[in-house]
Amino acid sequence: MAKFLVTSALIYANGPIHLGHMAGAYLPADIFVRFRRLNGDDVIHISGTDDHGVPITIRAEKEGVTPREIVDRYHRLIHDSYTKFGISFDNYSGTSRPKHYEISSKIFTDLYENGHVLKKEEQQFYDEVSKRFLPDRYVEGTCPKCGYERARGDQCDKCGSLLNSLELINPRSALSNATPVIKSTTHWYLKLQDFEERLIQWIEGNKHWKDNVRKFILGWIRKEGLHERAITRDLDWGIPVPLAEAINKVLYVWFDAPIGYISSTVEWAERMGQPEKWRDYWEGKDVKLVHFIGKDNIPFHAVIWPAVLMGQNEPYILPYDIPANEYLTLEGEKISTSLNWAIWINEYLECFPPDPLRYFLAANAPETKDADFSWKSFQERNNEELANILGNFANRSLTFIRNQMDNKIPKAVYQKAENELLDKAKEIVKDMTANFANYKVREAVKQLMDIARLGNKYFDEMKPWELKKSDPARLDTVMNACVNLLRILSIAMYPILPFSAEKLWVMIGEPGKITEERWDTLGAKSAQPGRTLGELEILFEKYDDDVIKRETDKLLAKSNLKKQGETKMEENAKTDAPALISIDEFKKFDIRVAEIIHAEPLEKSKKLIKLKVKVGDIEKQILAGIKEFYPADQLVGKKIVILNNLEPATLMGEKSEGMLLAASNGDRSVLSLLTPDRDMESGGKIS
Ligand code: 2FM
Ligand code: ZN
Repeated sequence: MAKFLVTSALIYANGPIHLGHMAGAYLPADIFVRFRRLNGDDVIHISGTDDHGVPITIRAEKEGVTPREIVDRYHRLIHDSYTKFGISFDNYSGTSRPKHYEISSKIFTDLYENGHVLKKEEQQFYDEVSKRFLPDRYVEGTCPKCGYERARGDQCDKCGSLLNSLELINPRSALSNATPVIKSTTHWYLKLQDFEERLIQWIEGNKHWKDNVRKFILGWIRKEGLHERAITRDLDWGIPVPLAEAINKVLYVWFDAPIGYISSTVEWAERMGQPEKWRDYWEGKDVKLVHFIGKDNIPFHAVIWPAVLMGQNEPYILPYDIPANEYLTLEGEKISTSLNWAIWINEYLECFPPDPLRYFLAANAPETKDADFSWKSFQERNNEELANILGNFANRSLTFIRNQMDNKIPKAVYQKAENELLDKAKEIVKDMTANFANYKVREAVKQLMDIARLGNKYFDEMKPWELKKSDPARLDTVMNACVNLLRILSIAMYPILPFSAEKLWVMIGEPGKITEERWDTLGAKSAQPGRTLGELEILFEKYDDDVIKRETDKLLAKSNLKKQGETKMEENAKTDAPALISIDEFKKFDIRVAEIIHAEPLEKSKKLIKLKVKVGDIEKQILAGIKEFYPADQLVGKKIVILNNLEPATLMGEKSEGMLLAASNGDRSVLSLLTPDRDMESGGKIS
């Protein structure tokens, strides 16, 4: 049993949460945590709101309310969205609570007394129109590193450089748009250079980090260097700098935010009635501290936060892993809260259940590169995968038992087919383990669907509707195997689709809770014959075009993006309808009859068979993804139909010089090769 302290980024309490946040940090964290709990690991999931920072004070000023009111309002809204979306935190705190002030002040004082904090008089931009010093992020201008014209003073979103606003070319105030003036002010700086050697050694040693994180941060250090960074601000909302001489200064929001991970854990321990228990995690040398964050938070978590931890006095552990994700775009455009180009989780949840979006965001997780959400692909994933494959297998199996078998789980005498089916499913689950453990959720989603596909294929092949008359005992066995496969599926889908997994669990008549099951022994227990099934429900509703259009219209109507011209979504809509093609275009396809003269399964591939075909006098090699559907030895001699002039490609080191044509049903559980319905010579042209 391993011990994990999992944290998700502390989101600013100045607005609701959108699907980009969810995809970047919270859903991957929740999937990981749910998997770990099922796996029997000791894990706590900690988060909260980031209550400080200028975005909150600005919003409060605009609305004429106090920052406290803003924080309370959004803390509630954000927390409520997480709960309804199934993000299972052990504690959800906020950084404006007294305990957090106390711990943050102590950490600052440690660093100060240990000589890691430097006082400096500095020049800073001052906005004479709004009468305030401008924190770096409230100055915009051209990035001195890459030339991006809309860089913020603290960080360039284009090249990722951390900036000081004074470096910006053509600076302007983000509050008033005026050109700010330079004034002098005093601030305290964290001397990152004090930790240079330790930090670099530590990062280089963290070979298990995702490549996109480790390479990014090493590159960042190389480019930026490690030097002192201001950790105080001229503001009246925040944690007062605990030094007598620091009047009207607060700790920089990025200094205290990660400390919120500690204070939220302390709060958790107090709530548990074991006030010292937080130390088991923060001071436990065997504990793995994992920070789930979005890409823009990497420098703070991989450099500045570890430096703070290294420089203070308590025996706190350093992060074990920082599985940061890349960005999610929306309908091909960057998500923008200011342009209201976003899908807000609370609004989504007013119209849809959480699991379809959890599924989409897991299947398209921006794990190694940016990914996109579009309503159309959401519809496809939901209808064609969740509903047609997973939901369909559950529904057809359980409906059959309800209508034809007294709604009771039948008994079984397993034969080879059932043993193979369940063994294969367990094998896939075993492979899913490593993917969940290594944050490869996209891959785990594919495997989950593979299990459901196995179920549909088995159901089709066993034809229970025929067995009812011909072999009732065999029917019992077949339907028992289907329920046991659903039992495996419910547990395997739980980290990604917790609400539907629990529903399915009840539907198959299981009395306990999925969380009482164990991942590593999954499949060892079986569904109890004779037990009555629970009430049957549709697991995944399909969404028709009207629903999707309603959502895209809504998105466009409320967004200001449209005012800037046509969105990519609208451009795509024009090209999305199946385009008509001319006969001349069709003539470009050289479709021919071909005869298979040799077929062998490709060892290293689960799906591919290597075929030699004759097209007239010409012999070609084609790789076809049909291993699951045809034994290689039954293919030789078949006349099939191929696209003859497809550009050659190399798959798994083998050349493929065409594509065979096949029909498949919606969930690809059945596939049928096209063959001419009379004997034709190979090479015959199809038109
Ligand atoms: O980028 C953000 O939304 C920050 N509020 C994240 C802070 S994460 C951590 F340090 F608390
Ligand atoms: Zn830049």
